[in-house]
Amino acid sequence: MCGIVGYVGNKEALPILIKGLKRLEYRGYDSAGIALINGGLNVYKNKGKVADLEAILSEKDTSGDVGIAHTRWATHGEPTAINAHPHYSESKDIAIIHNGIIENYSSLKEELINRGYKFNSDTDTEVLVYLIEDIQKNEGVKLFEATRIALNQVIGAYAIVLISSKEPDLLVAARKGSPLVIGIGNNDYYIASDASPIIDYTRNVVYLKEEEVALVRRNRELQIKTIKNKVKTPYIQKLEISLSTIEKGGFEHFMLKEIYEQPRSIRDSFRGRLNLEKGIVSLGGIIDYEQKLINAKRILIVACGTSWHAGLVGEYLFEDLARIPVEVEYASEFRYRNPVITEDDIVIAISQSGETADTLAAINLAKSKGATILGICNVVGSSIARATHAGVYTHAGPEIGVASTKAFTAQVTVLTLMALAIAQKKGSISQSRFQNLIYELDAVPEKVEQTLQESQQIVEIAEKLKDVRNFLYLGRGYNFPIALEGALKLKEISYIHAEGYPAAEMKHGPIALIDELMPVVFIATNKGTYEKVISNIMEVKARKGQIIAIVTEGDVAVKKLAKYIIEIPECDELLVPLLAIIPLQKLSYHIAAMRGCNVDQPRNLAKSVTVE
Ligand code: F6R
Repeated sequence: MCGIVGYVGNKEALPILIKGLKRLEYRGYDSAGIALINGGLNVYKNKGKVADLEAILSEKDTSGDVGIAHTRWATHGEPTAINAHPHYSESKDIAIIHNGIIENYSSLKEELINRGYKFNSDTDTEVLVYLIEDIQKNEGVKLFEATRIALNQVIGAYAIVLISSKEPDLLVAARKGSPLVIGIGNNDYYIASDASPIIDYTRNVVYLKEEEVALVRRNRELQIKTIKNKVKTPYIQKLEISLSTIEKGGFEHFMLKEIYEQPRSIRDSFRGRLNLEKGIVSLGGIIDYEQKLINAKRILIVACGTSWHAGLVGEYLFEDLARIPVEVEYASEFRYRNPVITEDDIVIAISQSGETADTLAAINLAKSKGATILGICNVVGSSIARATHAGVYTHAGPEIGVASTKAFTAQVTVLTLMALAIAQKKGSISQSRFQNLIYELDAVPEKVEQTLQESQQIVEIAEKLKDVRNFLYLGRGYNFPIALEGALKLKEISYIHAEGYPAAEMKHGPIALIDELMPVVFIATNKGTYEKVISNIMEVKARKGQIIAIVTEGDVAVKKLAKYIIEIPECDELLVPLLAIIPLQKLSYHIAAMRGCNVDQPRNLAKSVTVE
């Protein structure tokens, strides 16, 4: 995720800002920038590393005791110097840094364009700083007040810090849905997106709350208001944690942090795309290819690993909702087997990193045969994103743990949005079913949150099973890809052999493996093939296998059969994968951690597989 640093006080700002940016490098970023008041308001930014920015700055006069700095992970617009933060206002008197996504930026931008404004970047952030300046001019108010007023018009998530050459003794900061911390020093203040850039200077901090705006002035008390103009008393806390704990958000490992980020990352993946009021799903990135998708005779999905499992969920979704036949291919096999591809085909390439060599090669092959290629990538501007004709970004934020977790649920969310958008336009599902599903999807982050609260039970299961040598994962329908993904998570981080299978296929072979030592994980939620899965559970029970079942809250039948039960909230069958995978990620995590494995960097694995 993007990183924020700000300083106002009596010291030189630049070294504090640069050190702060370096502390935030662990979050992942593609560009960096700084704004300092030094004569006027000067912005310096570039694509690449903080060290590159430092090199540019070494040739400039960078003295000054107030400044803001940012590392950007692209969401709107490519990772370029122009799209990097800080962004100037139109007059260049104000600059802003921003983490988060402004959902209604395109309508705000349109209004400002109609009033004669011209924009330099593709970002949602630039729109916000223009809006703030416009309010300042029209209402004759100072930066703090203009920011407060503007934020009432903003839909979405933000942590922002603003600096103005007209008010050089202060910074204005605000947050909603994205964290922001203010460190209180000796007549000076440090602002950051987490406490890691602050702890060297002070342990006294204020965490801004939702929809709060702060006026941060040197030698003056901190002032906080809500965006609705209610005055708040700053609540000062003492930071008691270490640097590495802060970086991992208080979690033991990045993987666990990323598992717990999923309510946020799923919401970010549909933010601004799912409009409940208007009853529509809009995916700007593929708008020009929508008709082609509606008319498609066939969709091919190419991906590897976890992304391939997301593709399998996509197959069920597109076939169920949009009634388009789908074939899901391992990219590595696809490229070497002379596949039949025509100009009518649509190929969807799924990749977290956007750099996977096999997926890239599959795209190039399909492209050479004239197919239309759409991408679902997490990394903006990555090789795969560039190689496709169009695409939809997942907005999961950087994934640091090698085992993919939040990227998977973000990919499934985007596939759900795509299938829904096409189904509605094509008329292949009723309006009431569509309406029902978009409300259900909107409720998923809350249900994921609820699912994440179930921990003790999973830790106990992990404790009991951590030393076994094999695991079997079984599911049917939408839960079959989840069985595969659950098994992959376990083997890659704990080095326990695990296999995923369609539950009914078990009796065609794997049933021979079952004895009292074999744990069998069933994803047995109460829809579609529930009764059939119960029969499969009985087959395992008859052979003394240890049954661990993921069930829907309130389940009765499976509970009687299973040794261990993990409940997930009730939801539409199509969306169950987004919930059912959560306890499986956690189970793998706890088993691996208890076995003393290197959870974030499992042996022999790389985050981005750029070789064949
Ligand atoms: C598993 C995992 C890998 C990746 C695969 C594809 O946890 O991370 O299986 O899913 O290497 O990577 P991307 O999605 O970057 O193309």
